[in-house]
Amino acid sequence: MSIETLSWVGDVSDGFLRLIDQTLLPLELRTIDCRNVESVWEAIKQLRVRGAPAIGIAAAYGMVVGVQNVGAGLFEKRLYDVAQYLASSRPTAVNLFWAIDRMKHRFESVKELTSDGNTEVVSRILEELFLEARKIHEEDRTICRAIGNFGQSIIKNGDTFITHCNAGGLATADYGTALAVFFTAAELGKRIAVYADETRPLLQGARLTAWELMQRGISATLICDSMAAMVMRQGKINGVIVGADRIAANGDTANKIGTYGLAVSAHVHGIPFYIAAPVSTFDLMLSDGLRIPIEERGADEICCGFGVRTAPEGVAVYNPAFDVTPANFITGIITERGIISPVNKENIEKIIS
Ligand code: MRU
Repeated sequence: MSIETLSWVGDVSDGFLRLIDQTLLPLELRTIDCRNVESVWEAIKQLRVRGAPAIGIAAAYGMVVGVQNVGAGLFEKRLYDVAQYLASSRPTAVNLFWAIDRMKHRFESVKELTSDGNTEVVSRILEELFLEARKIHEEDRTICRAIGNFGQSIIKNGDTFITHCNAGGLATADYGTALAVFFTAAELGKRIAVYADETRPLLQGARLTAWELMQRGISATLICDSMAAMVMRQGKINGVIVGADRIAANGDTANKIGTYGLAVSAHVHGIPFYIAAPVSTFDLMLSDGLRIPIEERGADEICCGFGVRTAPEGVAVYNPAFDVTPANFITGIITERGIISPVNKENIEKIIS
């Protein structure tokens, strides 16, 4: 991909966050510039930037944008206000909160400098925050490559996999998590094919995953979400790999709505079902998936998707954006530190803590 999913443009003091506006894909590959924290919040909320790791990176840079030009006396309060504000954008992907916490810790480690109250010190702290955001961004690139490499033990020449939603370069710094396994396989010369669920209601599979796979010359077949079970029954599928938004201590995993149904189908058909996710997606504070907050989005996404009304005005709508797949349906979790399998609390602790 010639344009980066996220990038910082300019100096620390007056630079800004540039993002691919993913709501326009695949028709238009265009970027937007976020020069204040409100525009970063809006970009996350409206899914211009989306996917758990990418949301975390955007929020980290958003904190830098949010405290540019703030004086020493107000700096700490403003930083914490900005953190709280960005944290209110989307509730499910834990990477958002993880990245904000990292930024707060970096601030805490240098905050005594603000007591001097001079502008030089403030710019030094701003620089520290920027370095942390860039570190989160750069680390994600390495993590995605490692996930791609560890995933090779589960994918062989000639395999066909299904994926759901988009866990590719667009959802991360670049290269992806679930899609990283396919990209690496293709780079290693394995001949593979991928079925992409279109992913109702916002069509991340159709608009983003199919596009990314085709960009990299990987055989991509688009199906409606409701076709996955039949395709499995027809014997076309060797495995499933999807991303994750939050993984509880016992391995229960929240991901895009429809993932749970896909896991149930895979289980029934004896097809291995894998999650690919960085360690930052684990939330060991939550004992199980029932405690994961699930985002509910507006009715229009279902009744009036992409501006076309497809349901009667006034019909009741339920639109959870994520679901939770119980750990017992998950064959393994591919992380940057190795594959966790079988998926249980003990094995997760061994790799994550
Ligand atoms: O609502 P979205 O598009 O942000 O949902 C994204 C997903 O569910 C992804 O599968 C998940 O964040 C993992 S991305 C590496």
